[in-house]
This record gives sequence, C-alpha cells and structure tokens, in this order.
Amino acid sequence: MNTRLLFQDLAGVQTPMLAVFAVDLAMGEDAKAIPTLLTASDAVTGAAERQMRAGEFKATLGETLLLHGPGGLRAERLLVVGLGRAKKLSPDQIRKGAGTAVRFAKPRGVRDLAIAFPEDKALSDELLDELPCESTARALVEGAELADPDYDTYKRDREDRSIVSLAVVAADAERSVQESIRKGFSDGRIVAAAQNFTRSLVNEPGNVLTPTVLGERVQAMCAEVGLGCEVHSTDKIKELKMGALWAVAQGSEEPPALIVMRYEPEGGAGEGRAAGSGMPVLGLVGKGITFDTGGISIKSADGMEKMKFDMAGAGAMIGAMRAIAQMKPKVRVIGVICSAENMPDGKAFKPGDVVTAMSGKTIEIINTDAEGRLVLADGLHYAKTLGCTHLINAATLTGAIGVALGRLNAGLFSNDEEAVEKFQRGLKVSGEKFWRLPCTDDYADQIKSAIADIQNTGLTRYGGSITAAMFLKEFVGETPWIHLDIAGTAWDDEQKPWLAKGPTGIGVRSVLEWVGGYGG
Ligand code: BES
Ligand code: ZN
Ligand code: ZN
Repeated sequence: MNTRLLFQDLAGVQTPMLAVFAVDLAMGEDAKAIPTLLTASDAVTGAAERQMRAGEFKATLGETLLLHGPGGLRAERLLVVGLGRAKKLSPDQIRKGAGTAVRFAKPRGVRDLAIAFPEDKALSDELLDELPCESTARALVEGAELADPDYDTYKRDREDRSIVSLAVVAADAERSVQESIRKGFSDGRIVAAAQNFTRSLVNEPGNVLTPTVLGERVQAMCAEVGLGCEVHSTDKIKELKMGALWAVAQGSEEPPALIVMRYEPEGGAGEGRAAGSGMPVLGLVGKGITFDTGGISIKSADGMEKMKFDMAGAGAMIGAMRAIAQMKPKVRVIGVICSAENMPDGKAFKPGDVVTAMSGKTIEIINTDAEGRLVLADGLHYAKTLGCTHLINAATLTGAIGVALGRLNAGLFSNDEEAVEKFQRGLKVSGEKFWRLPCTDDYADQIKSAIADIQNTGLTRYGGSITAAMFLKEFVGETPWIHLDIAGTAWDDEQKPWLAKGPTGIGVRSVLEWVGGYGG
C-alpha cells in the first residue's frame, strides 16, 4: 500500500472514495443517536447532510454509509464511517474506523482511497485531550494498513484486492500541528508494517515455516532494517546445555533454531553500556514452536491444524524488533527466539523423563504438550546471560488463558510492579488488551516434583495459565519480568469490519510501547 499524507482542503481531493469519520454525540445509555461528522469541511458536511439527517445511520463503531457522486466534492464516493459514542472516543476507535474504510473498499474493487483526518468542530476540549493529533494520526495509519492483508495466501485463484494507494488528508493546519501529524503518520507506518510482518509469519503453515526457515526470514529482516542477528541450531544449543529446549526439539526431523537479534541505540551505547553500567538492557523472548502436535502426550485431532500458530509469541517479538530498529529508542534491546517443532517420534522426549535446563534446574516432564514453558525456560535464562536486565516474553502458552479471559484480553503476569506499570501505561497507546493474573509464590507448590527440582505441569488443571507462569518464574530469578500469554488472542476466526480473520499480531504494539518506556 502506497500511503501518503496530504495537507489540503477535502473538497478538492480527487479520489475514487473519500472516507470521513462520524461519532454519536448522544450522552445517556438509551438516548437517541446524534450522528455527527468529524470534519470542519462545509463541503463534506453539505454533501452528507440529507442522509445524516434521515436517521438510518447511527454512527456506531464499524457502521458505514456510502454516497455516490457527492455534490460539491471531487471525490467519486463519500464513505461515512461510524466510530461509536463520542464520549468514549479513543485512538482505538480511530484505528478501527480507518480499518473499516479499507475493508469496505476492498471487496468493492476500490483500490485507491483517501481518509479524512478527524477534525474537532463538534467536540469539546475534554474529548480532544484523549485524542492528541500525533496518536490520532498514528492510530489512523495503523488501522488502515492492518486492515489491508487477507490471509488466503495459498489460494491459486486468489484475487489480489489489496489497496494500491491511501491518502490521509488533513486540513492545512499550523506548522506544529502538521509536525505532530507527520510524526504519528510515520510511526504508524512503521508499527503497522511490523505487525503485518508478524501476522504473515504466523499465517504460514508448519511445513513452510520450519524453525530453520523462521531463522532465515528473521535473518533477512534483520539485514533489511539494520539489526544484528545470529541464528544457531543443534550444536550451539547442546554446547549451551539448553536441555529444556533440546528436549522439545529432539523428536523432530527439523532442527531447532535459537535466534538472537540485537539492537544498539545510536550514539555508541556499545558494550560499555551493558551489565554493571546501570543502563537497562531489555530482553524480548519468544516461544517459536512452528508446530505443536503435543509430542508423545499427543493432542486430539480436532483443531490441531491451528497449532501452526504456536510461534505467535516469537512472531510478536520479531515484529517488535523490526519496529524498534526503525523507531530507534535509546535503550539496548536483545531478542531471543527459541524455535522448535514438537513431534512424537522414536527420539522424542517422554513423560517421566528428567531434563536439565541451561540454568542447571532439573525438570520432570509430566506432559510433553507443555513444551512452550520448556523452550522459554532456556530462552529466558539465556537472555540473562547475554546481559538483559529486564525481560519480557510472549507465548501461546496455555489453552487455559482462553478459558479464563476469552478472546478479548490476553494474559499478563509479572514479578515486578514497575515493569507492569510501564507496560500498562503503553496499553493506552497500543489499544491492545492485557489482563493481569497472579503469579505469587503461594502457587509454587503446584509444580513441585518428587524426583526433580520442578515438574512441567501442575497437579491439577485449575489455574493452568498461572501454573505455566510459575514455571517460567523459576528461570527469571530476581530479574524484572513480564510474561504475556497470547494463546487466546493471537488468532481470530471471526471476521471484523476492520480486520481480516486469521493472525492478529497481538503483542507487537504493546511490547514496542514497553520498550519505549525505557528509552523513548
Ligand atoms: N500451544 C499450546 C497452548 C494452546 C492450547 C494454545 C490451545 C491455543 C489453544 C501449549 O503448548 C499447550 O499445549 N499447553 C497445554 C498445557 C497443558 C498440557 C498443561 C494446554 O494448554 O493444554
Ligand atoms: Zn503444547
Ligand atoms: Zn505449544
């Protein structure tokens, strides 16, 4: 998608489709809708006036109203897109609204469109406090770009309906406003491209995206954006004594991959800034199971095909690293991806086996389907040995997180209040939803083993996501750490007006904001 930013009067924009946002100004719960256009353009207001007054369009989020040949405008069509109640207006509504415009255009064969930057004629200052120009511009571009891909990538008769060009059109405002809009616009493009990169990786089938291929794709991405990158396999994993990662990997013909991405801020941060210098070094660790059969504790066939998405945590961290390279925060960041295929085989690890993790801890395997925590155990410990002072990991770790939180919120666990506070502050910008669950030491009994230091699953199924978090906690020690369980949210089977079904790319935006919190 060729995305441009224009400062000009809306009436003069020549485009097959001009989209403009509308909100509902009604206040009370049962109050009658008062749909109002978010534009200061009299021409646009005039063109839509009759339809807006007819009362059919209520400006609910994702609702659309199409006008052909709007009078007084050079645009061929005017699309009014509802954002919902004005009272609750947030960047996330703008993101979804922009996405709705793009996904409205695609099936109708409209390949070029313009979206009007929302203007505030009708809104009070109170509402606008929540909507600074920069975050509005960023959310708008993100929403539009995220709405473009469809994931029918392997259909031979696939029709490419992607948007060719998008113009974001803002009124010719004063210089400082223009600067804010430009900044948000440029950040939005970076973030959306990164998230779409993540989604394209998660969408790949397991026979295409093996750990080796994942390593190759990450290497190519790192070369493109200027990140350091090393991809290791079996020999190095054995040399590092990563017994937990190897236990999972050993049952597959496909060799595992240990991928390290490095970002150094400009201005000579270098090694001197690492351990001991007091400067944070952030470690982004991702679960990269390219296919999870469950291993010897094999999963049932129903829905197993979805387990190609079991590298979505890795995908999120890879996408975040891509955006970090382009947004250049002033903090060192190291990405560690532990990738393997979890297969049953004559060489596969078994329930009852005891393996030794890189940290030296011994683990009794109760269930080979609890493999994510094993690969992350070594990934988290390894990140610490590389000098990381703060850790964050993302993983499609437990089915139980979907049972607990549904498909809307992902799970958030942590041992550090400051890290959580930074993460939660970022959610206001990212618009992603994470709900914190406990992982206090009183849950530790769950993973006590009779034969080894710990076991890889709990005594009962209750609180399964917490048990998994407790297992990870064993490997982070005192290091501030956040664990994101995205198993319920990394894939959406439901088509949204603003987003195609399939991989969501959850985590990229929030991890990015968290990193920015240490060196924005
Ligand atoms: N990759 C799965 C988690 C998962 C399950 C994601 C269902 C999406 C839907 C993970 O490796 C797994 O299998 N976890 C087990 C843990 C159990 C054996 C303690 C689970 O959640 O059932
Ligand atoms: Zn599993
Ligand atoms: Zn898994």
